[in-house]
Amino acid sequence: MLDHLIIGFDKALRTVFANAQTVRPVPGDSLPEAELSEEERRLAASLMRVNHCGEICAQALYQGQALMSKDEGIKRALEGAAQEETEHLAWTERRIAELGGRKSLLNPLWYGGSLAIGMLAARFGDGINLGFLAETERQVEAHLKSHLDRLPEQDVRSREIVEQMKTDEVAHAETAERLGAVDLPASVKTAMKASSKLMTRVAYWV
Ligand SMILES: [Fe+2]
Ligand SMILES: [Fe+2]
Repeated sequence: MLDHLIIGFDKALRTVFANAQTVRPVPGDSLPEAELSEEERRLAASLMRVNHCGEICAQALYQGQALMSKDEGIKRALEGAAQEETEHLAWTERRIAELGGRKSLLNPLWYGGSLAIGMLAARFGDGINLGFLAETERQVEAHLKSHLDRLPEQDVRSREIVEQMKTDEVAHAETAERLGAVDLPASVKTAMKASSKLMTRVAYWV
């Protein structure tokens, strides 16, 4: 348990403070930088900050869930998804820098909160734990879809990243469903939506 905690703490520090690495090429890397007005650039940077923040939360959630899950297969699936979330983290981080924006100042807070939620979800057993994962990913998918409506049409470099993330999140949800995710009660889904709305609203500005 102590080993896991030390590894977990190390992961937390790296997620929040270090630059993430990507194995896959960054989506849209070969596309040219778009002509953006100052306002469009600010909007795109803010939306990508929200997405980056979401990926910080995803990392923490999965870490919390993997830490507490007793099933090796589920642990591996969670760690596999977390690996792709690290890539999402790297892609959004780079795009924020390209747009001249900055990451959320509250990332340590988001990380801590999500870690606690992940650990809590895992205490309800594997079905609920996976159900929580699946529902999170479905909500993220819907959220990314809404960003595709809001991002400037010509900002193809941001759009490609969001598109690929959306594809990956759908795959994460499907993995969780295959492994036996339980459909969560509507009240839980609503509470999850409310808390992610709070996060996305705040991260848009801070
Ligand atoms: Fe992600
Ligand atoms: Fe995901």
